[in-house]
Amino acid sequence: MRKPLIAANWKMNKLHRDALVFAEKLLLTFKNQGDCEVLICPPYTSLAALGRAIEGSPILLGAQNVYWEEQGAFTGEISAAMLVDCGCRYVIIGHSERRGQMAESDQEVNRKVKAALAGSLIPIICVGETSEQREAGLTQEVVATQLQAALEGCAVPAGFWPVVAYEPVWAIGSGRSASAEDAEEVAALLRREFEEAAKIPGDTLRVLYGGSVKSTNIADFMQGENVDGALVGGASLEVEEFCRLIEAAQGRKKT
Ligand code: 13P
Repeated sequence: MRKPLIAANWKMNKLHRDALVFAEKLLLTFKNQGDCEVLICPPYTSLAALGRAIEGSPILLGAQNVYWEEQGAFTGEISAAMLVDCGCRYVIIGHSERRGQMAESDQEVNRKVKAALAGSLIPIICVGETSEQREAGLTQEVVATQLQAALEGCAVPAGFWPVVAYEPVWAIGSGRSASAEDAEEVAALLRREFEEAAKIPGDTLRVLYGGSVKSTNIADFMQGENVDGALVGGASLEVEEFCRLIEAAQGRKKT
């Protein structure tokens, strides 16, 4: 049984006080976990405060990035152990904004996935095609290559099975989401690729869709067999909308 996961990626938004106000309101609405995991990935600067605010609650904490070294002279970087120390259980790796704007390579993504797993964090591995790649009919090839590269040589410990997020680059922040059918088709492919690469049964993998997800379209994405939740940007910044989105995702467990 795969539990749905709704993950908020706040990107570079909210000061830590705003994060705490959000958490307070979310905790009032969301007292029991129900059958949907809810995860908040704030900027690094809010992690510690948010970690304390949600401790003991059903809300989970994640980071938006991690460095692969354990410690040392790496100015500006943050290790897996530091994230766990703040209460993180998850970390987003290889988001297209990092691949695109920070020139993060498949090899760096792979090193980060390994560091996360070694450091007791569950990686949320992001894959997705650009609009040019989509128009050229390369979607499946691009996402399969990204996933294979991310998992290359990874030993996946029990209990830390990665999550994969399919986020078409053209759908992010554009208000133009992929169709539920397209998301379903890519999610099914990623499941097969995961099985092949990680040597773990593909039906245990949770696949999220991301890209202009809102409370009004999340149910469509989760209707099929293969999409287990969402990685949400814009619609996770306003607590009322995020609560409506969680509500719409409840009750959609996959066997
Ligand atoms: P939007 O939901 O704002 O399109 O962002 C998606 C995303 O990039 C989540 O990681």
